[in-house]
Amino acid sequence: MKRIVLCAALMMALYSCSEPKKNSLQQEEGLAKKYEQNFKIGTIFAQPQIEGVDKLSIDIVKKHFNALTAENCMKGEVVQPEQGRFDFSLGDKVVDFARHNNMYMVGHVLVWHSQPPKWIFTDSQGNRVSRDTLIERMKNHITTVVKHFKGKVDAWDVVNEAFEDDGSYRKSPYFEIIGEDFINLAFKFAHEADPEVKLILNDYNVCKPQKCDAIIAKIKELRSSGLQVDYAGMQMHCTMDFPSKNEIETTLKKFEDNNIKLQITEFDLTSIPFPMGNTAEISARADYQEKYDPYKNGLDDDSRAKINSRFKEIFDSFLSHSQNIERVTVWGITDKGSWRLDWPIPGRTDFPTFFYSDGKMKEFLME
Ligand code: XIL
Repeated sequence: MKRIVLCAALMMALYSCSEPKKNSLQQEEGLAKKYEQNFKIGTIFAQPQIEGVDKLSIDIVKKHFNALTAENCMKGEVVQPEQGRFDFSLGDKVVDFARHNNMYMVGHVLVWHSQPPKWIFTDSQGNRVSRDTLIERMKNHITTVVKHFKGKVDAWDVVNEAFEDDGSYRKSPYFEIIGEDFINLAFKFAHEADPEVKLILNDYNVCKPQKCDAIIAKIKELRSSGLQVDYAGMQMHCTMDFPSKNEIETTLKKFEDNNIKLQITEFDLTSIPFPMGNTAEISARADYQEKYDPYKNGLDDDSRAKINSRFKEIFDSFLSHSQNIERVTVWGITDKGSWRLDWPIPGRTDFPTFFYSDGKMKEFLME
């Protein structure tokens, strides 16, 4: 009898080992379906997906995601490379893909100090333009872009990264030339161009308390002056220790308490060190050093478990506040395409997205 039991146990063990594990594309239910009661699950499209060459990523997007953001091709420097010359060729392809696949489409981004229309702040002599000129140029940019995508984009990141971590206004050229009401004007112009589209005030490090408070105060001010702001956007470019669970919870609750709905716009998690502290400022740069690239030869089980449990910690907070969160977008489809591999240090190995480079889903999402 004992022998039979042992034998059966052995057979079962063998069977479970040999049973092929379903990969992320074979799983019956995609992530968007799994979390449909909670929030939309979004990701981004870049050149390899737009051109249709990265088939693995495209299949993952179709299977798992129901919201889409263009990673770069709807930014100012791309859509209006020269004054008055608009180029929507790539943006149109992303929007077509989203429509074809029934996805919530996010426009990114109208007003941002990084990757702006390069000419927008200066005149032909290279001098800074006047306040009136910049307002006129900003109005023209916003109006043309928003009208072009009218009915095809569900929500726009209207203003990106307007605040410093201490809650003061970022001294961007928009702020310096126009003053703090460049934000008010941007929201006004966007709404006038498409009264139906939802509008987002987006930033990174929103879990820094003073920055969070400044964003909440600004949205309240905009709303009380009759302007439409539908969401605060939290980028959520996270590290292994920032923001802490506690900081995330406090922040999500603050927005709830102030009746401000959220979109998590650019979630990713870097598990490797970098020297410049917590930031997502894209101009931040450091040179490659081996000590900043600890996983270049692969991921050991212990580190894999730590990364997954950190992902789970953050994602669980989103889930427990999902009544106030419209969308969670991850900034990258697989790890292979993540901007983190080249920012702020070029050429590193990192695991920032929901899918490993070979297309396998991160374990924390399989539970
Ligand atoms: C990043 C892109 O992922 C990179 O490909 C590009 O080189 C720089 O910008 N905050 C934002 C995003 O709002 O637009 C940035 O995207 C990441 C930080």
